[in-house]
Amino acid sequence: MRIVAEHLTYTYNEGTPFAARALDDVTLTIEEGEFFGILGHTGSGKSTFVQHLNGLIRLPSSQKHPKKRRAKRGEVLPPAPVLRVGEFDLTDRKTDFTALRKKVGIVFQYPEQQLFAETVKDDVAFGLKSFADKKSQPSAEEIERAVREALTAVGLSYEEVAEKSPFDLSGGQKRRAAIAGVIVTKPEVLILDEPAAGLDPLGKKEVARLLHSLHETWCKTVIIVSHDMDEIAENCTMSAVFEDGRVKYVLPPRELFKHADELLGMGLDIPLVAKLCRELSARGIEIDCDLTADGFVKAVLAKRGQA
Ligand SMILES: Nc1ncnc2c1ncn2[C@@H]1O[C@H](COP(=O)(O)OP(=O)(O)OP(=O)(O)O)[C@@H](O)[C@H]1O
Ligand SMILES: [Mg+2]
Repeated sequence: MRIVAEHLTYTYNEGTPFAARALDDVTLTIEEGEFFGILGHTGSGKSTFVQHLNGLIRLPSSQKHPKKRRAKRGEVLPPAPVLRVGEFDLTDRKTDFTALRKKVGIVFQYPEQQLFAETVKDDVAFGLKSFADKKSQPSAEEIERAVREALTAVGLSYEEVAEKSPFDLSGGQKRRAAIAGVIVTKPEVLILDEPAAGLDPLGKKEVARLLHSLHETWCKTVIIVSHDMDEIAENCTMSAVFEDGRVKYVLPPRELFKHADELLGMGLDIPLVAKLCRELSARGIEIDCDLTADGFVKAVLAKRGQA
């Protein structure tokens, strides 16, 4: 499903003294199949944007009684927002938002904090049941099959964990179980807000590996929100930088991190490999490589071979 957002603006607590503009005329396309990274300073609007994509935050025009606004004489109204996710038009209040949520799953930051059921099996099944049509609830066999598949997809053994309390799992297992509870509906788009937050380097690598395997086999499009530039550089095919509710760059990471000065000026970091390339460039040695350690070493060796 292709995601198209145009002129998206969102203000929390609109019309009150606590009004906070979180998105300001955001226009961004995310192609199907992308492993897309969203980065930006804290408070730049990343979470607000992704919550629009499955209707957790509704556009005013898709709410039940949108305020009709007519242009006053001489006034130019802002362009109407566009938000489409595949065939779903999120500006249309008649859109089936439950069907949308089945196709667009969001894993929030620290998702393990939302585990609640008595067993892992029940927790993972919860998502499936809550999205099912009231008239056609899945059978016990269907539920078991779906839960088994989802747990296997996140690298957990059904036999080992299904009957356990989620609270008896290790930290890494809990996060996997929570992700299983989102992918159990087989979403086409999987969004994860800071999927590696709070994990040690090994845990981060494992999450990256898991997301790649889900991207290959389970969800066509993966979108991650991250503060971790190495995570974006090593995993994403495309990236967008948010600043003060606006989209500042949309570029493949390899191109994005060439804007090192601007990113550092925005208070963002750059990946380690980009820093090394920058240091070498200052000494007159230009290295152009993908931003993995492996890519860097290969590019340096190739350069040495030329010399
Ligand atoms: N529930 C809310 N009520 C009021 N204002 C909010 C709410 N959630 C976010 N905001 C404000 O909206 C702006 C964008 O917030 P958002 O959470 O989307 O940013 P973010 O980029 O996800 O930040 P972070 O990196 O800290 O998660 C900020 O100014 C924030 O204070
Ligand atoms: Mg956030």
